[in-house]
This record gives sequence, structure tokens and C-alpha cells, in this order.
Amino acid sequence: MQVAIDGPAGSGKSSVCKIIAEKYGFTYIDTGAMYRSVAWVSVHFGEDNLVEKISNIDFILEENGKKISIKYDGKIYDLTKEIRTPEISSKVALVASNGEIRKILVKKQQEFAKSGDVIMEGRDITTVVLPYADIKIFLTASPEERAKRRFKEWQSEENKQEYEKVLSEIKKRDEIDSTRKESPLMQAKDAILLDTTGLTLEQVADKIGEMIAEKKEKSKK
Ligand code: CDP
Ligand code: CDP
Repeated sequence: MQVAIDGPAGSGKSSVCKIIAEKYGFTYIDTGAMYRSVAWVSVHFGEDNLVEKISNIDFILEENGKKISIKYDGKIYDLTKEIRTPEISSKVALVASNGEIRKILVKKQQEFAKSGDVIMEGRDITTVVLPYADIKIFLTASPEERAKRRFKEWQSEENKQEYEKVLSEIKKRDEIDSTRKESPLMQAKDAILLDTTGLTLEQVADKIGEMIAEKKEKSKK
């Protein structure tokens, strides 16, 4: 079974996917981590010939979405932590608007999706990467609620930032992701809208669990 989830930053995609993956034994694929890794490469190895650099990279996804490494020029780099900084967050939407880079990543994501039951999340999964997925969800929440979630998440870390700054960064990234020419973030016609404002992670995971159970039941008939 394939479950595809799209939605803006802080809507709960990765947290919910981890719960579902664990509970139902799905492989979780975090495509945002792949775009973030591209941003990391552009920061650390330079923006020149970025498309060529990315076409020579192997993405290594381990521990079911909890770890990401890349193999570049014969060396392995564990990027799990490095790609979550405010610097990478502020750069990622720009590299993700490059159509040639998207083409390379979409192909790799479609390959990853061949591995049995998968739950994949990002911005173009329901529209471009897995348009024929069994379950398609557009996960969202108000920008203020999403900023509050991120703000809370960063309180105890070195990434600590003002709430207003987190909110404006989220709004800016939403704007770039939703208005870009290449595969913009949007709700696919046949995707289910799930507004998580005021819902706990468990409540959201339960709703998606019900969709999976229903799909499984239908496929038996
Ligand atoms: O976790 P958060 O929602 O903040 O972001 P993410 O899922 O890690 O994605 C980071 C960025 O990568 C997004 O803001 C998009 O610019 C880009 N992205 C994309 O263009 N397409 C995807 N399928 C996934 C991410
Ligand atoms: O992957 P995405 O950017 O869509 O969101 P996330 O990283 O899964 O969620 C951002 C933060 O919001 C995490 O700290 C979650 O625990 C929290 N969250 C929440 O409190 N309630 C929800 N319904 C969803 C997420």
C-alpha cells in the first residue's frame, strides 16, 4: 500500500508518518530531508554545477526516516542533524524550485516507493511523485499553530529563535513552495483535506489509521 501526504511546514507530516510507519510496519520516506540535503550540499560544496553534483549523490535513508546520509565523491556524510538548522530551512525552498533538481529527486523517490508498504511525505507526493497512491492526504493547520509547534520544538535547542521570526520564516517558505512554477504545493483534486489545527498527533494518526483500515477492508472484498 502507498500512503502519500503533502502539506506545509509544521503541519505534522513527519511526526505523524513516524507513528503510522511504526504502527503499521510501513517504510517512511521523508522527501523534505532529501531537498534539505541538496541545500546542505549547496552550502558546503558550492552552488556551481549543483545539478551535476546532485545527480552523482546517493541518498541513504536509514532507521525508517530517523537518519539520512549522502554518499558524495566516495565519502559518506550523516546529515540527520545538519539539515535541520535555520540556515538550511531558509535556503531549501530556493533549491527546491529548480526543475532539474526536482526531476532527479522525484526519480529516486519513485524508486524508494517500490519497496512494499510505504508512507511518503513532502510537497508534491500526491500530485507528482505518487499520483496513484492508495491514500492521498493534504495535511494542514493555521500558520500560527504551525509556527507555535516549531517554536516549541526549538526551545531547548541551539536553534532557539523568536516566535515572530519562526512565523515569518514559515509564511515565507509556504509562499515560495505554493507559488513556484515547478510542482507547487497544492491540494490534489482527489486528496483528502485534513486540518490538524487543535488536534493532537495521536488524533491525527488515528484518523489516518482509520483510512488505512478502511482501504485494507475494501481491498479484501
Ligand atoms: O519539515 P518541514 O515541513 O519544515 O520541511 P520539509 O518537509 O523538510 O521540506 C523542506 C523544503 O523542501 C520545503 O519547504 C520545500 O521547499 C522542499 N520540498 C519540496 O519542494 N518537495 C518535497 N516533496 C519535499 C520538500
Ligand atoms: O513534518 P512537518 O513539518 O509537517 O511537521 P512535524 O515536524 O511533524 O511537526 C512539527 C512539530 O509539531 C513537532 O514537534 C510535532 O510534535 C508537533 N505537532 C503537534 O504538536 N501536533 C500535531 N497535530 C502535529 C505536530
